[in-house]
Amino acid sequence: MANSELESCLDDWNDLEKEFEQLEAEHKKYQKKLDEMVACQKKCLSSIAHHRYRMKTINETLKKNEKKLTEEEKTVLSDLRRKIDDRKSTFREMEEVLPHKNGLYLSIILGQVNISLLNKADKYSYKQEYEKFKLTVSYVVMVLSFFLTFFDDSRWIDAILHFLLVWYYCTLTIRESILVVNGSRIKGWWLTHHFISTVCAGISLIWPSSWSYLLFRKQYIMFMLYISMLYVMQYYYQSGSLYRLKALGQRHDMDITVEGFMSWMWKGMTFLLPFLFIGYFFQMYNAYILFVLSLDSRCHEWQVFALAFIYLVLCLGNLTTTLIVIRQKINKDGLSLKFLLNKYRFNSQLKQL
Ligand code: COA
Repeated sequence: MANSELESCLDDWNDLEKEFEQLEAEHKKYQKKLDEMVACQKKCLSSIAHHRYRMKTINETLKKNEKKLTEEEKTVLSDLRRKIDDRKSTFREMEEVLPHKNGLYLSIILGQVNISLLNKADKYSYKQEYEKFKLTVSYVVMVLSFFLTFFDDSRWIDAILHFLLVWYYCTLTIRESILVVNGSRIKGWWLTHHFISTVCAGISLIWPSSWSYLLFRKQYIMFMLYISMLYVMQYYYQSGSLYRLKALGQRHDMDITVEGFMSWMWKGMTFLLPFLFIGYFFQMYNAYILFVLSLDSRCHEWQVFALAFIYLVLCLGNLTTTLIVIRQKINKDGLSLKFLLNKYRFNSQLKQL
């Protein structure tokens, strides 16, 4: 190596040394702030727990003495109760940007790793990614089911579809549990529905290629085609709703208003609901056909009756939950103006998106 090249390398290194000192200082600053943040999070969490405990005690005392109060005191009491309720919802908002404990299911699968998303922009991105994941797999299921309609007896290709569904629903339960930990209001039934669907796909996977399997196969493939099409429609409703909630949160008042959002939501739901009800009817029909098959003397597989029962449970659960959701939306429960405006109101982090 020529002398001049060695010197230029040394100069470069000395430059880097100076920059490294700066980097070290920055990193120390970051570490300090991180420690401060963790300490602050712990303090806030324990303060909220303390406040909740004291509010519970106040509530209990109020309940015990409620009957002895005069009319004037009762007015003070209802005012106090309103303040307590307001404080409770403030705590819920505060907790959105604080770390959350993993539920039992996530603790079993992931352990106590921190999966809390601490800002609304990250929560939005995660939700968007979850919806895209569902869309992609739905298209794959659609193509695979379509492909399977051309074969009459191809148990091993069927197994690919069944296995894909086991993996898909299993992944959904994990992703949805993460969403719930991060404040999503997904109804418990939809989560349970995906747990049950995992079992359903698992049972279909181990159902031997028998008389009953071959008889039900075509109907099952048609059902999967229909369901995947339904999931695609659901995607457009959910992602449209997500996009509009973000616009609301950003307060681009000219773009969208709460009334505009509600009107769009009702239009979307009115379009989607007939297809959903056809899907539930299809599930009920599957249950009926499988039950009839299970009574036939040529059917020896336990999977047939088990699947009939599962389809019945899925149909009843879906139908009941969808009707509850519609009723809640008509009564505007959980869709209050304050909630909608807060849902995806990002801070400065939004600019990073
Ligand atoms: N799966 C996963 N998440 C769902 C969901 C579902 N089926 N339905 C609603 N959610 C989520 C929403 O995205 C929202 O999440 P967020 O709090 O993170 O923003 C939350 O649950 C609350 O949604 P909600 O206001 O109750 O309903 P919605 O307007 O988003 O959707 C329906 C209403 C009826 C369109 C929707 O629940 C639906 O498509 N249900 C049918 C599902 C079904 O039957 N699947 C099986 C087909 S056979």
